[in-house]
Amino acid sequence: MGPFGRQDVRILLLGERGVGKTSLILSLVSEEFPDVVPPRAEEITIPADVTPEQVPTHIVDFSESEQTEQDLAREVQRADVVCLVYAVDDTHSLQQITERWLPLLQSLRPASKEDGESQSGEIVSAIPIILVGNKSDLLEQGNMESVLPIMNHYAEIETCVECSARTLRNISEMFYYAQKAVLHPTAPLYIAEDRELTEKCKRALRRIFAICDRDGDGSLSDAELNAFQQRCFGTSLQNRALEDVRNVVRRHTNDGVGSNGLTLSGFLFLHRLFIQRGRHETTWTVLRKFGYDDYLNLSRDYLHPPLRVPPGCNTEFSASGWAFLVQLFEQHDKDKDGALNTQELASLFSPCSIMPWGQNLKYSVPTNTQGWPTLKGYMAQWSLMTYLDVRRTCELLAYLGYHTAGTDNQLSAITVTKAQRSGGSKKRNTRTVFMGHVIGPPGVGKTTFCQGLLGRTIDEIDTSNLWCELPRYVARQLSVYGQSKILLLHDVDALGADSLSPQQVSCDVACLVYDATDEHSFEHVARLYLKYFAETSIPVLIVASKWESGPVRQQYLQQPETFCRKHRIPPPHGFSAKAGRLQSDVYIKLATMSSFPSWRPSMLSGNSSAIWIRAVVGLAAATALGLIVARTIRRLNIG
Ligand code: GTP
Ligand code: MG
Repeated sequence: MGPFGRQDVRILLLGERGVGKTSLILSLVSEEFPDVVPPRAEEITIPADVTPEQVPTHIVDFSESEQTEQDLAREVQRADVVCLVYAVDDTHSLQQITERWLPLLQSLRPASKEDGESQSGEIVSAIPIILVGNKSDLLEQGNMESVLPIMNHYAEIETCVECSARTLRNISEMFYYAQKAVLHPTAPLYIAEDRELTEKCKRALRRIFAICDRDGDGSLSDAELNAFQQRCFGTSLQNRALEDVRNVVRRHTNDGVGSNGLTLSGFLFLHRLFIQRGRHETTWTVLRKFGYDDYLNLSRDYLHPPLRVPPGCNTEFSASGWAFLVQLFEQHDKDKDGALNTQELASLFSPCSIMPWGQNLKYSVPTNTQGWPTLKGYMAQWSLMTYLDVRRTCELLAYLGYHTAGTDNQLSAITVTKAQRSGGSKKRNTRTVFMGHVIGPPGVGKTTFCQGLLGRTIDEIDTSNLWCELPRYVARQLSVYGQSKILLLHDVDALGADSLSPQQVSCDVACLVYDATDEHSFEHVARLYLKYFAETSIPVLIVASKWESGPVRQQYLQQPETFCRKHRIPPPHGFSAKAGRLQSDVYIKLATMSSFPSWRPSMLSGNSSAIWIRAVVGLAAATALGLIVARTIRRLNIG
């Protein structure tokens, strides 16, 4: 496969009899003019390594005396580009270009209506054409004026060239233009009539500019331009060359160069200039480096590199993933207030096709008082998304231009973690993101409990009057014995004692919630525990909500404390979401239990404080052993 994702290029020569098609091919191959020519040259294939663009190229002749109309139609369908040949000394042959050949090609290869792509995603664009005036040795001067009106009229004509099979003038150029028309087509980039880039091309270049403008000041500095140059072409520019570029832009635009460097308008101007000077390949190289396909859509491979997540495994960010996201946050937090306001968030996601995070953000992750995500909130939201939908994360990272040296895709940003629930190993868990399911019958206070993770009391939720819109997932970074962990909570309604699906059960820690003021509430939770969790190794914490109102005696075989002791789970945790009563210890407990799933209070019997003291000793030892995770996340603790 060639460097542009193409297997090969097929060039077909058409035109009236005697214009010199066969001679052109033979001259190219033997580098001398053949005195005697057969009606038709055999198909020849030029190997990749001797073509300028390193793609195998087939050259196909057509002869009306030997071939039929059907042969012609078939060859036109197979071709990637057509060289329409006329003889410069034969006006009839030029006339036939507009009267016969161009209409014929339009009927056999009609242009598509939308963006060069059919509904099935196949190519249906008009075939590119090179207009070739042969026998230029017979004219004293070039006569391009006669063909310019034709070129202006037919957008599919990429280039006109005058050449001579006899003197070999412009022969290899003609085949090079043909190859280039296929590999670096003009149509997706540029509208010749308007002398302007297409909207799609501008959109792509705007995204590239935004990615390269690392400090987000709206200009590309010398360092940013050089990083861009290095990434696209593998070379950097000397100061002198940079100054030359800026001078060209200054001369032609009013706002192309600002005090901090090349502006977006200057960047777009440069690409327009490349194309106008026939240097499409420069713009195409840039576009392809940033993931665009021939239709200027981000290619599937670029958006979704193959990532295998085996059953029972989860996805979170790697150290380089974190580093990229933190750098983006810092770049876009222009006012340095430690949070991204609406404009800052929009600017961060401007390279993406849509704004991925909605209004509900402040009910999902920690924000400042204005509801804007802090660095911790931002990381929590990314972690939540990556846990639930890693495909989406990969897509966004691609749009945002995630690349690290040596890797061409975003997989190095992602770590696939193994589930560590089974086996009862006492080893420390190296994962950083854990999912807790908050399960209980409707109305016991699960949503309130989830919102409590964000420090929101019931009074704040009531006044916001948003019950129905509150998200089912919340996320927050917590410190577990000096290590940064991200706890995700999923609000799960258990409508009956046997209503949970396997997905609703599968989690790193289960938090079963009952209403301490309702004497029948614990029974539901006890049944859920017995049916779904008693036989698993998933750590379980039972939470008694509405604790401030005073717990009532439960109508069940055992009181909650007895039940927990019997089943060797931690004693029920009394929880209140009232202002002044809300505490974060229960969430730290959940994060701890999910990080150290092998720990069970049954190792000790008796009172709960002894259990937790023992846990602290165990955890402190574990913390001392492994520091990798803590180090990678340390930066978050400052946010
Ligand atoms: P068909 O196969 O009949 O369609 O013709 P063709 O287009 O293949 O033309 P061909 O190569 O057979 O050339 C036709 C005549 O033009 C021959 O006598 C060639 O020698 C002559 N000829 C081809 N190229 C040139 C050229 O560049 N200059 C001059 N002066 N004569 C040329
Ligand atoms: Mg011929």
